[in-house]
Amino acid sequence: MWPMNLAPAIGLLLLVQVPCRAFLEHATCVRRTGTRIAAAEGKFSDEVTCGPPSDLFPQKIMDGVKFNLFGAGRADDEDRRHGSFQPPPRSMEGTTVLITGASSGLGLESAKRLALCGATVVLTARTQAKVHRAVNDAVEYCRDPGRGQYASANPKVLGVMLDLDDFSTVRSFPERYRSSMSDRSLAIQIDVLMNNAGGGGHPSREVTVDGFEKTFQSNHLGHFLLTSLLFENDLATRNGRGCTVINVSSITHRCAEATHGELRKEVEFGYDFENMNCDIAYSGEAYCQAKLANVLFTRELQRRADLHKPGWLTAVSLEPGGVATDIWRHVLGYDPRTYDKRCNSGEELTQPPNRGVIDKLSARLFYRVATQVERGANVQIWLAYLHASEKKIEKGQHYDEFRTVRPVPKYVNESNSEMLWTKSEDMAGIKFRFD
Ligand SMILES: NC(=O)c1ccc[n+]([C@@H]2O[C@H](COP(=O)([O-])OP(=O)(O)OC[C@H]3O[C@@H](n4cnc5c(N)ncnc54)[C@H](OP(=O)(O)O)[C@@H]3O)[C@@H](O)[C@H]2O)c1
Ligand SMILES: *[C@@H]1O[C@H](CO)[C@@H](O)[C@H](O)[C@H]1NC(C)=O
Ligand SMILES: *[C@@H]1O[C@H](CO)[C@@H](O)[C@H](O)[C@H]1NC(C)=O
Repeated sequence: MWPMNLAPAIGLLLLVQVPCRAFLEHATCVRRTGTRIAAAEGKFSDEVTCGPPSDLFPQKIMDGVKFNLFGAGRADDEDRRHGSFQPPPRSMEGTTVLITGASSGLGLESAKRLALCGATVVLTARTQAKVHRAVNDAVEYCRDPGRGQYASANPKVLGVMLDLDDFSTVRSFPERYRSSMSDRSLAIQIDVLMNNAGGGGHPSREVTVDGFEKTFQSNHLGHFLLTSLLFENDLATRNGRGCTVINVSSITHRCAEATHGELRKEVEFGYDFENMNCDIAYSGEAYCQAKLANVLFTRELQRRADLHKPGWLTAVSLEPGGVATDIWRHVLGYDPRTYDKRCNSGEELTQPPNRGVIDKLSARLFYRVATQVERGANVQIWLAYLHASEKKIEKGQHYDEFRTVRPVPKYVNESNSEMLWTKSEDMAGIKFRFD
């Protein structure tokens, strides 16, 4: 038994260290925090509007307090009461939303709640089995009579297989998508594209069948190719407001540092063009880099679309906060609260090795104290809803979990966005065209 007076102290320690450690580990920031601060204060201070994550915590905490106590940044009063934002019944009828990576986490939650207010939801998952399970989950969710005036006997949810780590499935996607929609006699055009799939924290460098580092391809390159093919095949709507592209990025885009592996002594914030594919070195940093690529991509997509024809496309990126989803599995293991149940239902789950008591305790605590998925999905659901409502989305901008537009670091600039775009075209073997 713990002595009584130690318990609160240990509790507090765990409470603080777990999310920080998870966050920092995930971003592999711990090792270099000292260097980072030096870099932020020294040579690069003019370049960096936001410093390393440790500098961000006080601001985040203040934003959280303002959000929770005063409702700052909230869309309406609804989620002040319930913690989760649900668009009104039938408010999204006639809107088609494509969500990538919807077999779990934020994507699945978005699929459920957008279908619940009448959207036609097309979700993607990596295998046919995952597609079936996710579609069933979302349909059951909408049919639940407990949802009162929201409940619907026939929600419009369908699924199409897509593995962003395999370009052949991305290339064949438009055709397969088209036929699934016509089978259900649904309108083909996509109103909202939610590039949500992603992940990171692989213990070592893994390469896809297409020869690219996995984090880079799943988070960025795969979506780049997909988005381009959807435009090319005329699947993104040009009517009304045009198509809205929502990129699920992460706060870690702010601590992306170009270290060129261990080759360079100085740490520099920004996109690491020399090590895009982690050929020089691999670390968890790959995730920060990929999430920065999402933000750069968003900017460039907006700029190019506006040049092509102003007004028809809206591109935004967002950060959902630290959310208790499967994305942490490589670092912390699966959520202990559902682990046994999932194993028993036949899912193949692998926990990271060497998990001692502290790791297990940390995971248990993290999954409890981190933002739960219902709330974590608020921002992306809200942005999809804005597309269908009268309210305006700020084009090309980056939203945080409090639904506030946040400034992006200085290195998110036109030359970097453009360079990433051109290099991505080369790597994916396409020319991104808008007509
Ligand atoms: N949770 C957080 O704290 C957090 C914070 C910042 C940003 N985000 C971002 O939020 C998004 C959603 O993540 P989540 O937290 O909901 O995690 P999640 O529960 O692990 O969901 C990620 C989804 O993406 C899918 N996916 C991963 N790689 C894919 C690929 N190459 N091709 C196709 N699908 C792929 C996964 O499918 P499988 O199940 O088959 O792997 C899963 O359905 C990600 O972009 C993530 O970077 C999350
Ligand atoms: C989101 O990011 C992906 C990959 O970086 C990109 O292909 C896609 O166009 C982006 N979407 C928006 C709205 O910027
Ligand atoms: C953009 O940022 C990079 C550093 O990441 C810098 O080298 C470059 O000069 C900047 N370009 C513009 C147009 O500001």
